[in-house]
Amino acid sequence: MPIFSVFRYNPEDGSDAFFQEFEVPEKKGMAVLEGLYYILENLDATLAFRSSCRQGVCGSCAMHINGQYRLACETQVAKMGNFVRIRPLAHMTVIRDLVVDMEPFFRQYEAIKPYLIPAEEPGDREYIQSQKDRRRIDHYVDCILCGACYGSCPVVATDEKYLGPHALMKGLRFVDDSRDGAAYERLAYLSTDNGIFRCHTIFNCQQVCPKDLDPTGAIGKLKMKSVWAKLRGKLPKTG
Ligand code: SF4
Ligand code: F3S
Ligand code: FES
Repeated sequence: MPIFSVFRYNPEDGSDAFFQEFEVPEKKGMAVLEGLYYILENLDATLAFRSSCRQGVCGSCAMHINGQYRLACETQVAKMGNFVRIRPLAHMTVIRDLVVDMEPFFRQYEAIKPYLIPAEEPGDREYIQSQKDRRRIDHYVDCILCGACYGSCPVVATDEKYLGPHALMKGLRFVDDSRDGAAYERLAYLSTDNGIFRCHTIFNCQQVCPKDLDPTGAIGKLKMKSVWAKLRGKLPKTG
């Protein structure tokens, strides 16, 4: 029977954080998230964790499982062996147990204006994008904002203002969107002190992404686009 060793912390009771072990009966095809629900429903109703879709779509169950950030709903217990150690995402304040305060993560995401800024008002016109143009951003659209990359990035750990791999990659998603008209303004913002040039190309974000996305490559592309635009005097000044 696998042992789940789960990070526990309740800031309200004044005690230190610790790992608590639970025996979880394994079922065929069982995901780590099911094991956490087993604990919640049968062993300790106070255990706190996030989940929603249970199928790798919502991004809410990202956590550190046996040495790597993973989605709990997509991680098979059978592949983890008999000991499953679970911690919350790093670089964010723990609210309770496996639940962290994702406010900094979403603040950085909002900062890159994650919505289309068209060059002109479309009016009643339909905003059509060719299949070819859509394919350019397919990869980046697939990000589910789970926070695994953010938790794994050492630059995030040392600089709370750094925009982070998720926000920078989403930045490229809009820079490269054929319907968007603010590419140079976006590039200028993404190139400020807290943006792409703070990335040290450490690749952790690429390695952990549960959707097999490549934030490192996206940041590299943004760096090249930024230098290209700057050399041609196309980058507007930022405030
Ligand atoms: Fe999660 Fe990957 Fe998006 Fe980062 S890039 S938030 S790891 S889906
Ligand atoms: Fe961090 Fe990824 Fe860059 S881990 S330093 S954002 S390559
Ligand atoms: Fe939605 Fe895991 S519960 S991604």
